[in-house]
Amino acid sequence: MPQHRPAEPDIQRYYTEVFAEADRLHRTPQGRLEARRTRDLLARLLPAPPASVLDVGGGPGAYAGWLAAAGHRVHLVDLVPAHVAAARAGCPRLTATVGDARDLPLPDDSVDATLLLGPLYHLTGQADRVTALREAARLTRPGGPVVAAVISRNAALIDLTAQGRVDERSWRLLRRAYETGVNDPETGFTTAYFHRPEEVVAEFTAAGLPTPALYGVEGPLWPLLNALDTAADDRLFADAVACAETFEQDPAVLGASAHLLAVAGTADRC
Ligand SMILES: C[S@@+](CC[C@H](N)C(=O)[O-])C[C@H]1O[C@@H](n2cnc3c(N)ncnc32)[C@H](O)[C@@H]1O
Repeated sequence: MPQHRPAEPDIQRYYTEVFAEADRLHRTPQGRLEARRTRDLLARLLPAPPASVLDVGGGPGAYAGWLAAAGHRVHLVDLVPAHVAAARAGCPRLTATVGDARDLPLPDDSVDATLLLGPLYHLTGQADRVTALREAARLTRPGGPVVAAVISRNAALIDLTAQGRVDERSWRLLRRAYETGVNDPETGFTTAYFHRPEEVVAEFTAAGLPTPALYGVEGPLWPLLNALDTAADDRLFADAVACAETFEQDPAVLGASAHLLAVAGTADRC
């Protein structure tokens, strides 16, 4: 069985001691928009239930639990033991283990679809991101989709500016992250990489996957929802969803979303 590399200590610490991931997708209007749009896209991009779905970097199970309830057979893998325990407790129908996206002790072609909604934006080295994608491709049956989430290169600067939280020091950190893609944990977020759309395309093809289709998740209105904190404004939320759907594959607007999904079917292996 392959040995797991030690998990990134900063990511472990962040999700165990600093940040409550379990309610991230309920806490803010952007979180609710991200959850709604990700679910809409997964419902379109994944095979119909019952399929076997591997959720790598599945966290406490926000999507894994939903997919299991829809009739899929779901196995979740995550770096953070507390997330794996929360996923098991929240949904007894799924299975979950601690593991690293770069080295998964599962057989070739063993699942119908693989999700990587987390690891690509926490691996700062391109070689590590390509390794994680190669593992996803190996585990997924020929033709099955690999769906990966990345954080847009522009998102941090848009988010903190819209909230009026940028000062001289954070502006320098945010500018550097915008230029290099690498987040400095001094920003308050953890070890992370922020993609330009063309970078995730190049990483899929370097991993031997076909050129992926790209989808903007939140569309351009998420900073407005967050800034106004329009928890009660159903009309604005519905319009933001409609806007995100309309622009979802428009290359001119992709980078305005906070997250992008990249999806490609695995190549046939003879
Ligand atoms: C922001 S959470 C996302 C959780 C969930 N997939 C979602 O989209 O809401 C990112 C998750 O990726 C996990 N993660 C980061 N790097 C990983 C790696 N190399 N292998 C496995 N999981 C990883 C983290 O532990 C964390 O639970």
